[in-house]
Amino acid sequence: MFQKLFLLLLLTSSFAFADSGLKKVFKVTSPDKTIVVDVEVFKGEVSYKVKKHGTYILRNSKLGNVLNSIDLSRDLVLVGNEISSYNKIWEQVWGEMRYVRDHHNRLLLKFKKANVFMNIEFKAFNDGVAFRYDFPTQDKLKNFEIIDEVTEFNFHREDQVWWTPAFQGNRYEYLYNKNRIMDVNVIHTPATVEKENGYTVAIHEARLLDYSSMALKNWGFGKLKADLFPWANTNVRVRGKTPLVSPWRTIQIATNQAKLVESTMILNLNDPVDPNLDTSFAKTGKYVGVWWGMHLGKYTWGRGPNHGATTENTKKYIDFAAKHGFQGVLVEGWNYGWDGNWEANGDIFVFDQPYEEYDVDFLSKYAAERDVFIIGHNETSAKTKNYERQLDNAYAFMNKYGMKAVKTGYVGQRLDGGEWHHGQFGVNHYTKAMKKGLETEIMMVVHEPIKQTGLRRTYPNLASAEGVRGQEYNAWGRPGNTPEHTTIVPFTRSLAGPVDFTAGAMDTKFNQWRDHSRVPTTIAKQLALYVVIYSPWQMLCDLPENYEARPDAMKFLKAVPTNWEKTVGLNSKIGDYTVIARKDWVSDNWYVGGITDENGRVITIDLSFLEKGRTYKVNGYQDARGASWNINPHAMETYTTTVTGGNTSFDLVMAPGGGVALEFIAQ
Ligand code: NOJ
Ligand code: CA
Repeated sequence: MFQKLFLLLLLTSSFAFADSGLKKVFKVTSPDKTIVVDVEVFKGEVSYKVKKHGTYILRNSKLGNVLNSIDLSRDLVLVGNEISSYNKIWEQVWGEMRYVRDHHNRLLLKFKKANVFMNIEFKAFNDGVAFRYDFPTQDKLKNFEIIDEVTEFNFHREDQVWWTPAFQGNRYEYLYNKNRIMDVNVIHTPATVEKENGYTVAIHEARLLDYSSMALKNWGFGKLKADLFPWANTNVRVRGKTPLVSPWRTIQIATNQAKLVESTMILNLNDPVDPNLDTSFAKTGKYVGVWWGMHLGKYTWGRGPNHGATTENTKKYIDFAAKHGFQGVLVEGWNYGWDGNWEANGDIFVFDQPYEEYDVDFLSKYAAERDVFIIGHNETSAKTKNYERQLDNAYAFMNKYGMKAVKTGYVGQRLDGGEWHHGQFGVNHYTKAMKKGLETEIMMVVHEPIKQTGLRRTYPNLASAEGVRGQEYNAWGRPGNTPEHTTIVPFTRSLAGPVDFTAGAMDTKFNQWRDHSRVPTTIAKQLALYVVIYSPWQMLCDLPENYEARPDAMKFLKAVPTNWEKTVGLNSKIGDYTVIARKDWVSDNWYVGGITDENGRVITIDLSFLEKGRTYKVNGYQDARGASWNINPHAMETYTTTVTGGNTSFDLVMAPGGGVALEFIAQ
């Protein structure tokens, strides 16, 4: 009884309903009451606005969908509403934080038009707001097509957005720009908006299944509108069959932008993992591989005098991994299909047939004896049908040879010659492969992926993904990445989920292999990236000999965890500098990564993330005096000191294009 009364009180304080003439206004409020969403139903149209601390985040923004058979953005009749609250803590299988609180208030509005039903569901969390469309089972709507989603995000005309272009040949692999929303065209999500009133707001989506992914188009005067990727040669965005729910449209809101990295809303909007699933196979770790050598031009994917995937060469990498305690060895170019122009030859890849030069039988045993496993590599060159035909064989092959993880790849401008990677066709393919990985207990690292939307919660084999202009661009890009790039990634791409960025370059100039390109950072910044850019599987990209030459850096690379109990966003300014602290999942040790753009700087952090009053031994890895990304990038110095957890300040000294990595060992 008391509980019921309490719930009622809670609900009446979190939701209100006003019937002002014809206009109906529903309110849903974040549990801490700082965020208020007003949903208005007026003259058959539905719109919403969002405020934080009474200030506008989004002004009146339209909602609805246009189906080929009926326009569900107008003449809607409200037929019901439900409200509820939720507050529970759940535990991740692995992650950037172990415990996640799902605390939200929910509002469900039910609409009807000519016997067709569509619901809109809202959730307000302390870190943002989300909503989705729901097409329930019904008599008059079975198979249908969505030709337009009218969802708007109505920002201020002076608000600026960090963006990459959508509908382009290189998928998500672009450098970020910052412009007024008014000045962009069509952009990918996560798109992160710096508002004129000081708030930072990221638009993305969660739980993208059996739907098309959402780009955002400039709709004038600071407004963005959903632009779903269509099926090839049509204006159809989604082919649906009731019941169907859209992905959640997510609006993460931060007063202090450094805190965006702590947001858990996207995970909370995904389904819990099946409690009956044995997830003990889902591990995190580090890997090395013949990969960087290929991108430098030292090795080739196809056969020839410099073939990377030979038994001899792979054995060297296994020895190196075993010697230093790294778990995985990634081998690319091992299977039939790579010879010649592999980007154009996706139809001939065979995923269970190694080249004769690659003795997988011997190598997998050799690895296992040394507590190492080979990471499978399935490059499809965007030919998903060829891959799907072989899925059973490909994953059985990996099971047979003890490969506990696979890197997949979809290089190409369109899937199967016509479909967007990010359309519903692509989404369904990536889902199919991910489910095959779950069934066979294989962790996945997906390149040229669909965007991450938190599905790793439900499918803990979905470890990581590219979907970013990663380290490889520093090997051959004209130009490579900029020094500021990685200060933007944590607040854009990383908000979607883990990133396979593949840091760890110890030789940033590699003049022996290529002279037009370089890694635009110092060594210390390469180390810091293991803390700053989260991934449960982290690659050490460089050649073994370059690691052997840097025992100072290796000490950190061996120690840094890949599974974290806590994540704390410290001082950050998108595009300038980023400092993140993370606590190890299994020990009381903390790690801090700080990185800067092309400007050197001293950032003072506050050690209140450490346990108050506890002593920590600090191992510091920082840019040496005179170091910078373009002059003397390899100059790093290490130091040790002792600190006490609490409100003490600590200086991070970073060179131009540099960074700092810190290990706080609990005493
Ligand atoms: C592009 C991927 O991003 C890269 O990591 C890989 O080496 C090549 N494709 C070949 O699969
Ligand atoms: Ca790529």
